[in-house]
Amino acid sequence: MQTNQNIQWFPGHMTKTKRMIEASLKLVDAVAEIKDARIPVSSTNPDIDTLVGSKPRIILLNKCDMADANVTARWIEYYKGLGIYALPIDCKSGRGLEKFIPECRKLLLPVIEKKQARGIKNPSIRVMIVGIPNVGKSSFINRIVKQNRAKVEDRPGVTRGNQWFTLDRGFEMLDTPGVLWPKFEDQVVGERLAFIGSVKDQILDTELLAVRLLDLLKEIKPQAFIERFKLDADTVGEIDSYELLQLIGKRRGMLISGGEVNTERASAMLLDEFRAAKLGRITLERP
Ligand code: G4P
Repeated sequence: MQTNQNIQWFPGHMTKTKRMIEASLKLVDAVAEIKDARIPVSSTNPDIDTLVGSKPRIILLNKCDMADANVTARWIEYYKGLGIYALPIDCKSGRGLEKFIPECRKLLLPVIEKKQARGIKNPSIRVMIVGIPNVGKSSFINRIVKQNRAKVEDRPGVTRGNQWFTLDRGFEMLDTPGVLWPKFEDQVVGERLAFIGSVKDQILDTELLAVRLLDLLKEIKPQAFIERFKLDADTVGEIDSYELLQLIGKRRGMLISGGEVNTERASAMLLDEFRAAKLGRITLERP
């Protein structure tokens, strides 16, 4: 088994994306940042705070159907402490999405009032959606566009292909131009993105990844995971992650000749089941 690995990213056009975002920010009143509720820290662009600056922001914790609801509630409190409203959403079922427009309007009330004071009768508000790949940005846009029977238009000018959606009377949404990158130079971030399936498995050592995931699961001890593999919480706490992987493989009868556990197969199975939330609703990062 390999003991260390560095995930190679080829993001390309980062500077270009950054410039496009900077230009587009001038056109909007607020930014809605989508994060994966299971890894709110790792599913973040490292430059987003600087880019957004003092512009009003709302955080959308997506895929909350796969995250631990108690931990999601703690994240919401955490962001509240930072003065940021966070909304848990699930773009698979659409849960939480109905609150998006009202919450943005609430957030932008001072901006709306300022515009009204300047004589603009029905000021429109504009929100830009940002998020690193795979957080569910397209799913979010598709759902919200359908729910609101939105009008879609390409407005040339600032950046070619800037896509605008008129969702509601006076509410406009802009899709981020370009691809926003994660903190790819950080190995822990890369691993966590790989756990949830945002990094291609072919470039990673599956066994090492499974062992690293088990390191985290050993700390969290999710009940559904323990039951699924007929483990007991004490044993999970006592043995090391590689032994735990062997035990899990054994429970599933993944043996090779000589009675040894096929840890490669067990690793792939564990990662698949984690990604499909079959091990329960698990959040890997806590505030
Ligand atoms: P992106 O634009 O940010 O790159 O993400 P995208 O919407 O393509 O979503 C990435 C994957 O995450 C998709 O799955 C999508 O269905 C899934 N997804 C998005 N939001 C949610 C959510 O709230 N809950 C759950 N459980 N899944 C969500 P996929 O396997 O890549 O595609 P598909 O199987 O849906 O076709």
